[in-house]
Amino acid sequence: RFLDVDGILYPYVEGADQASAIRASADAIAREDDIILCNYPKSGTHWLWEVICMIQRGSATTIPDIKQNHMIEVISADDLAAIPSPRVLNTHFRFSQLPRDMIKKRCKIVLNLRNPKDLAISFYNHHKNLLNLYRYDGKWENYLSLFNSGKVDYGSFYDYVLDWEQTIHQNPNYPIHVIYYEDMKENSGAEVRKLTKYMGVALSDELIHAIAEKCSFQNMVIDKVGFENEVWRKMWRDEKPLFYRKGEVGDWKNWFTVAQNEEFDKMYAKRMSNSKLKFRFSLP
Ligand code: A3P
Repeated sequence: RFLDVDGILYPYVEGADQASAIRASADAIAREDDIILCNYPKSGTHWLWEVICMIQRGSATTIPDIKQNHMIEVISADDLAAIPSPRVLNTHFRFSQLPRDMIKKRCKIVLNLRNPKDLAISFYNHHKNLLNLYRYDGKWENYLSLFNSGKVDYGSFYDYVLDWEQTIHQNPNYPIHVIYYEDMKENSGAEVRKLTKYMGVALSDELIHAIAEKCSFQNMVIDKVGFENEVWRKMWRDEKPLFYRKGEVGDWKNWFTVAQNEEFDKMYAKRMSNSKLKFRFSLP
């Protein structure tokens, strides 16, 4: 079950005027020091949001809030305006959908990317386990074609990443920092350091590593799950939040059949033939 707003699918939230919030976000007022974390769903939004907030605060202390409360297309204009500066916002919007004022004010954008095989698995578990939101209870063997054809919230992964690649190509002077989930997994300290540089925040090596460590999968499971609020808890199958499921690179190998993998590789080769984006499907 989805909500279609101007041709793009979104999660359907009962009782919320989601379509108005989505349309109104184009006119949201930006602040020069806003940072916007952009990614396709299931790319590690919770993880990166926590990391960026900690860098901004200059402290490796758990953020006492959840990223959903800072999500452009979900919260109302009033709630967005009420967030104190500096704001770390997040969205699954494409560049052209971002609040116009954010582009005008040249707000910093972090684009977080993840390989689409692990994404498909993560998204499947998300759709299946957020039972009271999506009302989806399908089998994995039937899911992949939904993912490949983009019949999921925020549309096709391929359309999404190619749109961003084109944006970067067309706006060479716009400051967009690209980060890959796989690089974060392989060497989170190095990626956190690059983020601090992009954000213009000077942190000691010790603090950079403390932030990377505090935001490891194992630590976030312990520190963050308690912050899932009641509304979200009720959305999940058996009221068990699963934003922190496995947190690995290559889990797809436990799910894809040989035939599915071949079908996927064909699709990937076709859609990404002109792309310079380099996704890694496993770590060395
Ligand atoms: P899996 O389902 O593969 O485990 P999002 O936050 O965009 O919804 O992305 C969720 C994915 O990021 C889930 O992937 C989740 O487990 C993973 N994730 C969350 N926190 C993480 C962390 N600290 N380190 C690595 N992966 C993390």
